[in-house]
Amino acid sequence: MGILTSGGDCPGVNAVIRGAVLGGDVAHGYEFLGFKDGWRGVLEQDVVPLPRTGVRGISRLGGTILGTSRTNPLVGKGIEGVRASVRRNGLEGLIAIGGEGTLAAARELCGQGINVVGVPKTIDNDLGATDYTFGFDSAVQTATEAIDRLRTTGESHHRCMVAEVMGRNAGWIALHSGMASGAHAILIPEHPVSLEQICAWVVSARDRGRAPLVVVAEAFAPEGYAAPYAPRGLDTFGRPRLGGIGLLLEGELQIRTGIETRATVLGHIQRGGEPTAFDRVLATRLGLAAVESAAAGRWGTMVSLRGTDIVNVGLEQALGELKVVPEARYQEASVLFG
Ligand code: F6P
Repeated sequence: MGILTSGGDCPGVNAVIRGAVLGGDVAHGYEFLGFKDGWRGVLEQDVVPLPRTGVRGISRLGGTILGTSRTNPLVGKGIEGVRASVRRNGLEGLIAIGGEGTLAAARELCGQGINVVGVPKTIDNDLGATDYTFGFDSAVQTATEAIDRLRTTGESHHRCMVAEVMGRNAGWIALHSGMASGAHAILIPEHPVSLEQICAWVVSARDRGRAPLVVVAEAFAPEGYAAPYAPRGLDTFGRPRLGGIGLLLEGELQIRTGIETRATVLGHIQRGGEPTAFDRVLATRLGLAAVESAAAGRWGTMVSLRGTDIVNVGLEQALGELKVVPEARYQEASVLFG
């Protein structure tokens, strides 16, 4: 069985690898090969053996022991390259741990007769076919700790503090870390609000003697702005690189309210570091389920969390739904604003 980790890294990836290797070895006698740096390793035959001893103690480690890249196997002669690699290494199939792009590639490869089981991975928690993605809980924990720190320095200086968190399509990290840290405003792409409204929340917090705290998702755009703020060019998939809206807000809020304001972009701090206990358990269960799915021939599916159960969902269906923050969840949180 081949394993690869592709796309942005995420706390818990190593726990998936360990779960799959230990589960597959014990229950099915599989041998595992790990491809380095995602699909790049598959295409370039950059492969390492993954014995039981190679995965001992890794579930608490951040990042991915296999490395990752955003190489897209559907570009050029990628599909034939993957097929050749699977044959040459004598693989029954692949376990692909990745986000939207990786799962879309897995679906295409399955359609071309290459066996793949997917494991969803993103800190953004925006995949509709699973209740939670592993890595999300860790990212929220890290963001909350950081925002708590911003609060104490903000209170000392009587400043407004703006914390920008990740979330390419959805505001889940902002919603959860903002609620957990008691933010006076949470700004997410699903719910544009005007700069006037944000200022009103900030001023109201200041007038009650508080240091205003604003948590903003990287993809947020204020009402009336056509697109998210993305001044940093494109990534390898041609998508705009987000990040910086917090800094834009810093200037706007300071000018409009007269309150001294400082913004912090948390960026990749949220993706790095050790997974929480919740993510280690979820990721381990997904790894165990992925190898069981492969052994049962449920190729073309991904493993996903439904309630407390791990189930298989067809990749076709899985990729259809983006999970954004429902309006009711935002309204619930907004009672606490200002
Ligand atoms: O998809 C996960 C994510 O962390 C997004 O929240 C963010 O926009 C993106 O990856 C950043 O990607 P990169 O590491 O390529 O800059």
